[in-house]
Amino acid sequence: MADLHELAATPAWAALAYLASGVLFILALRGLSSPGTSRQGNRLGMIGMLVAVATTLVLHGTGLIQISIAIAIGGGLGFVAARKIAMTDMPQLVAAFHSLVGLAAVLVGVAAFLNPQAFGILDTQTGHIHNVSRIELGLGVAIGAITFSGSVIAFLKLNGNMSGAPIMLPARHVINLGTLAAIIGLVAYFVTDDSRWVFFTITALSFVIGFLLIIPIGGADMPVVVSMLNSYSGWAAAAMGFTLHNTAMIITGALVGSSGAILSYIMCKAMNRSFISVIAGGFGGEAPAADGGERVERPWKRGSADDAAFLMSQAEQVIIVPGYGMAVSQAQHVLREMGDLLKAEGVRVKYAIHPVAGRMPGHMNVLLAEANVSYDEVYELEDINSEFSQTDIAFVIGANDVTNPAAKTDKTSPIYGMPILDVEKAKTVLFLKRSMGGVGYAGVDNDVFYMDNTMMLLGDAKKMVEEIVKSMK
Ligand code: TAP
Repeated sequence: MADLHELAATPAWAALAYLASGVLFILALRGLSSPGTSRQGNRLGMIGMLVAVATTLVLHGTGLIQISIAIAIGGGLGFVAARKIAMTDMPQLVAAFHSLVGLAAVLVGVAAFLNPQAFGILDTQTGHIHNVSRIELGLGVAIGAITFSGSVIAFLKLNGNMSGAPIMLPARHVINLGTLAAIIGLVAYFVTDDSRWVFFTITALSFVIGFLLIIPIGGADMPVVVSMLNSYSGWAAAAMGFTLHNTAMIITGALVGSSGAILSYIMCKAMNRSFISVIAGGFGGEAPAADGGERVERPWKRGSADDAAFLMSQAEQVIIVPGYGMAVSQAQHVLREMGDLLKAEGVRVKYAIHPVAGRMPGHMNVLLAEANVSYDEVYELEDINSEFSQTDIAFVIGANDVTNPAAKTDKTSPIYGMPILDVEKAKTVLFLKRSMGGVGYAGVDNDVFYMDNTMMLLGDAKKMVEEIVKSMK
């Protein structure tokens, strides 16, 4: 019962401060649920974290110098990384940060295991760690280690240091299930025997399973993995919150864990993947490697900026489909200008956002909001897909996988089953990308390039839209 005693021993002011930070985190999550309130949400989250850290420092009051030095180094590195990182590299950064949360959980767990008295988890009568603390420790290091090794692999894949193609081990499901069963069994056994070999075997096997779960995942499925690791990192932090008797960590970890799980579920639905198969690892993995496959020369039509400007200004409705390439070339501002010019000519302009367009959830929404595109012109996939068939022009700018009809028909495609924006149903598709050779994230060719109603606009997204705007003016 030491945990409960320790929690009860938290002074009332600190308990209240932790509660306040928990409320601020909930408000932050609420704010982050819409682009319009996301900045405010971020601010509330930062204040909540400041309250939680300050409370912990005042509460414990020891080693303040060392802790300040550690915060200065860690905070400084985080600040520089966050300022330098390109928006398109955000998933790698997030994966790298998750790996640190996982590692921190493992290190806290190891420290608590080696010196239980200092952490208040030693039963002085028996000289062993309290039973309940053993469960917290076992689960904490297991989830932390899985988060760490899984996030390192996700980082290497997203950063291009490792092939994004799925790596399939023979009998991987048997190996994974066996390893997971061994970890669960050992955590249960740890309650009866807190020997070192049990604790460190749990840790080692968990590092291995984190690695095994992520290597088979490739192609377009990485977004789900990143949000799933986000969830794991929250549960690892919550488990360590129990070991450290820190209510703020328990609340925050649970919030991160559950919101990450909800986001993973939403992304799974968006990608038409089953949640269970993501957790089990290697979903979508039977598909061929994302190496571009064999490309067959097929006829296609090329258009110019002038052609695009003319066609769009004659249209009744234009649906703009942004993707990763728009983010790379930072074309959102000039794109909004193009939209404004079209509206001035009486053309109806709408933006269609696929849930995994770009490289992170909400990537396109953030960029369009930054360029002051009105929220009521921005539509989610399910709200706009039926409109393509009655639309004159679909203007695809730097998107590829999210428009690929192979997802609907080709069972061997790595994106098979993912819902896509039905751009090919528009009367004319203007498809803007830099070259015919370039492929999207999943590495597959797109039939839309070669359709009769498609005109390819080849060039950098920003430069091409600037030329279209010039031509319109
Ligand atoms: P992609 O399929 O990656 O296609 C991007 C396209 O942009 C490519 O065709 C590329 O062709 C073009 N491009 C690149 N730079 C350009 C530039 N400067 N100017 C013009 N075009 C440029 O993008 P998408 O359709 O947005 O799909 C997103 C993909 O990323 C999905 O497969 C998704 O699963 C995956 N993913 C998403 C996330 C999240 S959460 N959104 C996270 C990780 C991965 P060229 O090279 O020929 O220009």
